[in-house]
Amino acid sequence: MSDKMWAGRFSKEVDETVNAFNSSIAFDGVMYRHDIKGSIAHADMLGKCGIITADDSKAIQEGLSGILSDIDSGKLSLDMTAEDIHMFIEAELTKRLGDVGKRLHTSRSRNDQVALDVRLYLRDEAAQTRNLVTELIKTLIDIAKEHTETVMPGYTHLQRAQPITFAHHVMAYVWMLMRDCGRLDDAVKRMNECPLGSCALAGTTYKIDRDMTAKALGFDKAMENSLDGVSDRDFCVELGCAVSLIMTHLSRFSEEVIMWCSWEFKFAELDDAYATGSSIMPQKKNPDVTELIRGKTGRVNGDLMTLLSMLKGLPLAYNKDMQEDKEAIFDAFDTVKLCLKTFIPMMKTMRVNKDKMRAAAAGGFINATDCADYLVKKGMPFLDAYKITGRLVAECIDKGLTLETLPLESYKALSELFTDDVYTAISLDTCVSERKSFGGPAPERVKEQIKNAENALAALEGK
Ligand code: ARG
Repeated sequence: MSDKMWAGRFSKEVDETVNAFNSSIAFDGVMYRHDIKGSIAHADMLGKCGIITADDSKAIQEGLSGILSDIDSGKLSLDMTAEDIHMFIEAELTKRLGDVGKRLHTSRSRNDQVALDVRLYLRDEAAQTRNLVTELIKTLIDIAKEHTETVMPGYTHLQRAQPITFAHHVMAYVWMLMRDCGRLDDAVKRMNECPLGSCALAGTTYKIDRDMTAKALGFDKAMENSLDGVSDRDFCVELGCAVSLIMTHLSRFSEEVIMWCSWEFKFAELDDAYATGSSIMPQKKNPDVTELIRGKTGRVNGDLMTLLSMLKGLPLAYNKDMQEDKEAIFDAFDTVKLCLKTFIPMMKTMRVNKDKMRAAAAGGFINATDCADYLVKKGMPFLDAYKITGRLVAECIDKGLTLETLPLESYKALSELFTDDVYTAISLDTCVSERKSFGGPAPERVKEQIKNAENALAALEGK
């Protein structure tokens, strides 16, 4: 006779291939702590509500704690032939306690158990990820503080466009990452309702206290609808979205670091500890870390698609398809945490080549808008000023000059409004320091921005 919990209904052993196919312990085993925590709260509630005796409740809770410390210490290892982590722990409890252990599953199904465990597990994963994101934010703020005067070109279409500072550029990512924290928080807040007590799908005839377990497990409340409790995985999708966006931000940043480290840019250089060499070309120093982050973003986006596609055709309530939620969302979190843990020290140790940044800013006519604005400030309509500046740029390109080195006669030939002070107006430093509009790159503005970011971060951390 099979030792499966549900064997009574069957007259044959399940095919071995099906057993292996069906089993999820290889990837849900990581939830053992959360499974045991949920079971302890359930057993406690069963005892307090008089559904099992106080003695049985106590014995079950102690038995579960014993299993927890034995798994933690390595004394007990997971049986990889078990159907899943929930079955494994209950079987172990029964092995240890006999009949008493079998009482734990009163008024509970694996359907509400798994919905609970995944929520508990993901709540921890989201908290760990959030901590890493805030650590990255702090790292970037420190970098920004060093570079409020480091002029570099800002780009559109990857063409040099207007002057900014490295601090301003880095701070753009700080705000993206702040929103990433907010998205994780939003998803966790919505997820933080307890499905336990939904049972298989239709609740139970026992007089359970769902509020008691919800509270014991740190949830805001018990979920309102037992069908919903066991059958949605929208929280996995929402968290998957939040993680995909973190990866997207890391990936864009990585792409920039890759460019900055190229011989063509040389804006930055990675520490040797965060770069790799080539097997054949001795001159190479490759930014593998950033390339892997860019690559792994595709994998995390794939996880999100897996979740969405898995859910879209499922009738209520539980379907086995839903077992596929775990590998996808767990992988997304494992990947983003791994990427953050590598990206943070890589950024901390990256050297910034201020001279190269400044030289690139000086060579690309990124002060052309400022030249046009100079004429506007002297009364010319912007579109006329734009055209004149275009002709000046063309003349510079023709003669191998820059707007800074073009003689005043050339300026005057196109407009009498030009006088000697044009050179100050178009100097790189003026171009940056005059961009004082709120959110702009002027050093005094970026310093304010950094302060605001520090306050926003303190608020996030206080939550
Ligand atoms: N390992 C399963 C999962 O992750 C547990 C739920 C099984 N429930 C069931 N009714 N067969 O989804």
